[in-house]
Amino acid sequence: MNALHRTWEKLISQTLTEAEQMPKRWRPGFHIAPPVGWLNDPNGLCQYKGVYHAFYQYSPFEEKGGLKFWAHCTSTDLLHWKLENIPLSPDQPYDCHGVYSGSAVIEDDHMYLYYTGNVKELGDYDYINQGRQANTVRAVSLDGIHFDRKELLLTNADYPMDLTCHVRDPKVWKKNGHWYMVQGARTKEDQGVVLLFTSGDGVKWFCTHRLKSPKPFGFMWECPDLYEVDGHTVLSISPQGVEADGLKYNNVYQSVTTFLDGDFRTTSVSGEFRELDGGFDFYAPQTFETEDGRRIEIGWMGMADVDAFYTNRTVEDGWQHVLTLPRELSVKDGVLCQSPIRELDAYWTAEQSFENDFAGMMGKAFEIELSDGNKLEENVKITLAEYLWLTWNSKEQIFRMEFKDKLLGSGRTMRGRKMTRLTDMRVIVDASCVEVFLNGGKDVFSTRFYPDGEAIEVTVSAPGAKGRLRM
Ligand code: FRU
Repeated sequence: MNALHRTWEKLISQTLTEAEQMPKRWRPGFHIAPPVGWLNDPNGLCQYKGVYHAFYQYSPFEEKGGLKFWAHCTSTDLLHWKLENIPLSPDQPYDCHGVYSGSAVIEDDHMYLYYTGNVKELGDYDYINQGRQANTVRAVSLDGIHFDRKELLLTNADYPMDLTCHVRDPKVWKKNGHWYMVQGARTKEDQGVVLLFTSGDGVKWFCTHRLKSPKPFGFMWECPDLYEVDGHTVLSISPQGVEADGLKYNNVYQSVTTFLDGDFRTTSVSGEFRELDGGFDFYAPQTFETEDGRRIEIGWMGMADVDAFYTNRTVEDGWQHVLTLPRELSVKDGVLCQSPIRELDAYWTAEQSFENDFAGMMGKAFEIELSDGNKLEENVKITLAEYLWLTWNSKEQIFRMEFKDKLLGSGRTMRGRKMTRLTDMRVIVDASCVEVFLNGGKDVFSTRFYPDGEAIEVTVSAPGAKGRLRM
């Protein structure tokens, strides 16, 4: 640990202490949120000696984003999170303008974190083709809390020549004794691609393959992930520069997945991409495998560069953004599904059943479930705090997440998806976080919202349906 790191620690500790006085409106109970400042991508997700670890991109001093550190949280149930420390700070020549996103690998009782060391050289550069260093760095820990040793593994000179300086977000994993790493990249022809690197020891890496789509799909692919679920190989990317197409791709940036055919070491993208989340606030998801074999995904419930369209009122309280609820991944009917982690069932302490409809005041955290087997084929409408409407009807066959008042939605208006059937629905509310899981998790919509007061007015109209409220 060098003097710069110690100075960062001191400044951060003062900032955290001062932040204790800030108002706590809209702070979620079971979503990861920064104590103060700005959060973005989930990083380094893993389970180490039984404990879950989640890191995130963190700007402690600026709620609208700035210099990036890694913050570190732990949990034993994926719902109650404890902020441990800010273990990675920009304190080296190769990461001085940001400890950017990356991942964790557990090996021989060590926790290895891989990340991008971002450096913007001084000069008149465009920072796309020149002036930016994207260094691949590894930090090692013997206890999962302290990271004393950083090693610079790759620099721009190690990446293929036809790429811009935008290469980042290493996702590393081990399979059958081999080390693999994917990184997102932008070519000089402005096409997003994923680079595959291989290694025998996790230190010396070689770029051996590249995954790309037959036609360009955005100019940059950020935060790639590659994993297996139910016998399918999934490629997950967060592309930038994809144009809106009807109800699809309406956000500034997207997060999509596709199934890969054949061996990921030699194949390329041939199938369609599908948006992971149809709501307003979802980006840069990452996954990890739990010790009991589940593939869990966590995303950033937010996005960069949206301020011209919508905002988050927590900025008034000195902080911004949360991570999504962890989601269990599975494949059903050839579709990648995301379901709330099963641990959530034990979080609720009371429940109430209803039929057809419900109207009442709820506290800050609750779940509305219209379960499988119910008759949802006609007309479903759920309202939260009067102005956030979740609707579907059999005539139109479009699910809508709609803020009836743009101002109350802090600029958010409507997102929708064509859906020929609606079989079941789970709406999870945690203060300012709303996540809606439809059709067994085939369709998911996430948004932030900022109701005033301690209670949230809820109405449900679902003729013929049986429902359950949990709180
Ligand atoms: C995605 C991203 C990553 C980068 C990080 C920086 O949101 O732009 O590509 O590593 O955020 O905070």
